[in-house]
Amino acid sequence: MRVVILYDPGADDWTAEDIAGVMEAVDGIARIFVSFNHQVQRVPVRHDMRWFNHCRGGRADLVFNLCEGVRGVAQWEDHVVGTLELAGIAYTGCGPWTTAVSRRKAVANTMLERAGLPVPRWTIAQGKIDDDFPLPAIVKPAAEDASAGVDRQSVVSDRKSLKARIAAMTEQFDEVLVQQYIAGREFNVGIVGTRTLPVAEIDFSTMPEGTWPILTYAAKWHVGSLEDLGSRPVCPAQIPQRLADRLCRLAEAAWRTMQGKSYGRVDLRVDDAGRPWILEVNPNPDLTDDAGLSRMAQAAGWDYAELIRRIAELALREAQGTKAARELLAASPAPRRARAPRTA
Ligand SMILES: Nc1ncnc2c1ncn2[C@@H]1O[C@H](COP(=O)(O)OP(=O)(O)O)[C@@H](O)[C@H]1O
Ligand SMILES: [Mg+2]
Repeated sequence: MRVVILYDPGADDWTAEDIAGVMEAVDGIARIFVSFNHQVQRVPVRHDMRWFNHCRGGRADLVFNLCEGVRGVAQWEDHVVGTLELAGIAYTGCGPWTTAVSRRKAVANTMLERAGLPVPRWTIAQGKIDDDFPLPAIVKPAAEDASAGVDRQSVVSDRKSLKARIAAMTEQFDEVLVQQYIAGREFNVGIVGTRTLPVAEIDFSTMPEGTWPILTYAAKWHVGSLEDLGSRPVCPAQIPQRLADRLCRLAEAAWRTMQGKSYGRVDLRVDDAGRPWILEVNPNPDLTDDAGLSRMAQAAGWDYAELIRRIAELALREAQGTKAARELLAASPAPRRARAPRTA
């Protein structure tokens, strides 16, 4: 089978660490397909559309979509997915509607609330914020992901700091969201196809004193930073089965509301009164071997290769039916050398 792996090669302001983070997933997944004698091409996505030539006209049996934006701009991801969808190409991950709507946190929160799901009180920071808006609150970009714009100053506990933080964020981001801060434990629920994986928890007990227990940008991306060391994933979460079931049912309902398919992750918090709240739904979450989804898959008994194989199978099955998917996925019998050329 011919597999094309799409990814964002980044922009001028990307650090070597940013690029390495993307390539870790690309190379890890490429290695898996190569080990089964499939042909793999790593294709960077740029605005010139050359990437599309590698995918169309039957040149790829499967597009493994790791593209989270173009030149680091998350919004372009929807258009890449839309192009694949329009061309009828078998691709992994969510469809264009889900990626577009989930990234707009105000739209996603509205959808989730309308479906009767618990979302912490929120508002778009335009003009004045109601005096009765509950504090502490978190101020975050309304249309970013991967904790972009979330740092140690994101949570504010008085009106003056709220105003100052909104002003600072509005300079950087087009749309800013203010949300009631939920103190309590943070959980993630991963979903692959129709399977809900074991719940994971982010343990913040080693977060430095005086730092809000949240997943900041540094916690996610700066390996070895205090915030990284202060946010330790635990999977499966050490929680009663009843709570785990409750979180899974809520995550599944949120996933359905956002019309999620393929693979995703729902982030939740449980407040001190034991009430669960949905923070967000993530279509196509990080798929590197040491990221959350892979950890959850391992807790379900799948190794990394099995997780990737299942995600590929879902895409092939949807596009070509179960039999064709099985045939395509079967390792090539001929022990020929699989090539993994890098395209410019
Ligand atoms: N309402 C909230 N209450 C408490 N913590 C929150 C809230 N919203 C976000 N956070 C914290 O900020 C992190 C990033 O926010 P999130 O909404 O998941 O954005 P992103 O899309 O950038 O991941 C979360 O993992 C959580 O730790
Ligand atoms: Mg998140």
